[in-house]
Amino acid sequence: MLTRDIALEDAILDLLDNCVDGILRTLPKRHDPETPYSGYWAKISFDGQHFRIQDNCGGIPWSEHDRTFRMGNPSLNNGHQAGGPTPKVGTYGIGMKRAIFKMGREALIWTQNGRHNYEVPIASGWMTKEDKWDLPVRKAQQSMDQDGTIITVRVLESGTRDRFTAESFKDDLLEKIQSHYAVIIHKGFAVEVNGTPAKPKPILLRFAAPGSDSPDIRPYVFKTKTDGVEVFLAVGLRDPVPDAERMLEGQTENTIGSDYAGWTVICNDRVVLYCNRDELTGWGTAKLPRYHTQFLAISGVVEFRGDPRLLPTTTTKRGLDFSRPIYQKVLDRMRDGLRIFIDFTNRWKARENEAKAHVGPVSSMSYATLKREADKLQFARVKVGLEGEQYKPKLPRPAEDSPDVRISYFRERALVTALAEKIVPDFEDLADLDLRRQVGERSFDFAYDHHLNGTHKKRSG
Ligand SMILES: Nc1ncnc2c1ncn2[C@@H]1O[C@H](COP(=O)(O)OP(=O)(O)O)[C@@H](O)[C@H]1O
Ligand SMILES: [Mg+2]
Repeated sequence: MLTRDIALEDAILDLLDNCVDGILRTLPKRHDPETPYSGYWAKISFDGQHFRIQDNCGGIPWSEHDRTFRMGNPSLNNGHQAGGPTPKVGTYGIGMKRAIFKMGREALIWTQNGRHNYEVPIASGWMTKEDKWDLPVRKAQQSMDQDGTIITVRVLESGTRDRFTAESFKDDLLEKIQSHYAVIIHKGFAVEVNGTPAKPKPILLRFAAPGSDSPDIRPYVFKTKTDGVEVFLAVGLRDPVPDAERMLEGQTENTIGSDYAGWTVICNDRVVLYCNRDELTGWGTAKLPRYHTQFLAISGVVEFRGDPRLLPTTTTKRGLDFSRPIYQKVLDRMRDGLRIFIDFTNRWKARENEAKAHVGPVSSMSYATLKREADKLQFARVKVGLEGEQYKPKLPRPAEDSPDVRISYFRERALVTALAEKIVPDFEDLADLDLRRQVGERSFDFAYDHHLNGTHKKRSG
C-alpha cells in the first residue's frame, strides 16, 4: 500500500529531498543565502537492472539511523530547528523506504557522516518475511572522499523496470526535477540523470533597475510575514506585450509560446506549481478573465517560507494545498497584481508596437536578483485583507488619442504567398507573420493611392 500511492518520479524526488535535507543539516551557520546549495550534487543513474543515487550531501548521521531505517516514525517530532535557514521538508519518516520498495526488492545503503561510515543491506527476501523486521548494519569497507550517501536498488519491480528501460523516462524525470528543483538548482545544487545535468526552468521578470530613467516596467510586489510564514510575491511582464498577429496566430493555429506565462508557487525552495494558468492561481476567478494568449507576457511568482507544517503544500510536499487559509489570503494579493497587468495588456491592445518600445529595452531578471533589487523599491503598507507591504509600478499608458485602428482578415494562404512575391521586396527573408502584415499594409496603401491619390502618408514597416 505504501508504494502504490506514489508515482515513480515522486518516489525518486523524495530521495532528492533527502539530499537537500542533508545539505541543510550540514550547512554552516554562515553561508551565502543566495547559493546555499553550491558545491553539493546528486547523481542518479538507472537501467533495466538497477537504480542508484549518489550524493555528497553530508551523509546520514548515526543519530538518525534508527529513524531512517525504521518503518514509520516513532517520534513524529520533525527535525525542524527553529530559526534555521530553510526548514527541511522531510517530516513523515517514510520517504527513503518507500522509494526503495517502490523500485525493487534488494538494496544497499552506504553512507558516511563524519567518523560514521556504515552500510545497511536489504536482502531480496526481507520484505516478504513477516516475522523478521531487523535490518543489519555493518562498518563500510572503504571511506568516501566526501561525506555522502549511495543508495543502490536491484531486483527491480517489473513495472519499474519497464519505466527505466523506456526511452522517455529519463526526460520525464528531468522535466520534473527541472521544475520542482528550479530554485534549488539556481541556488547551486547540481543534479544529474544518467549523465545529463538538470537545467533549472527559468523564472524571469522584466524589471527596470530602480533609479534608472526608463519607465516603471516593474512587477507588482507584495511581501509580508504572517503567522511565522514569510511571503514574497511578484507579478509582471516577462516579454514585450505580444502583438496582435501573434495573438491571432495563437488562437487560430496554436503555435504561440505560452510555456513561461503564468504563476510559479514556491514553498521552502520547492516549486509546487510552475507557470500555472488556471483557477488555482486566480485566472478566471473573482471577475478576472481566464488565461488566454493576450496575457502570455504575464508571469508571476509567489514564495512561502517557514515551518513546513504551516505552508500550503499537500502531504506529498510537491502539490499545492489550495484550501489553506494562508494561500487563500495571498491569492487575493495575487489577483491584485494580476489585475494590474491584465489592464496593462488591455490598454495597449492594438498598439503593441508602442508598448514594445517601452517594454523591449527593459531586461528581465532572475528571481533571486529580482528579490534583491525589490528591496530598493518604495513599499506602502496594505491595511485591507492580508496586511503587508506592496509596491505598485506606475506603468506607462498609451496616449489616448492614437488614430490607428486594426484591420485583420483571412485569405487563402496560396493567394497571399503569390501576392507577396509580387509586392513585398525581399519576401524570402521575412518571417511568416511579418510577410502577412506587409501584404496587408502594402495592399491597403496600394488601394488608397489608387482611390485617394497621394493624400495618404505612407508608413514604414
Ligand atoms: N541522502 C541522504 N543524505 C542525508 N540524509 C539522508 C539521506 N537520505 C535519508 N536521509 C535522512 O534519513 C532520514 C530518513 O529519511 P526518510 O525516510 O526520507 O524520512 P524523512 O525525510 O521524512 O525524515 C531523514 O533524517 C533523512 O534526512
Ligand atoms: Mg525524506
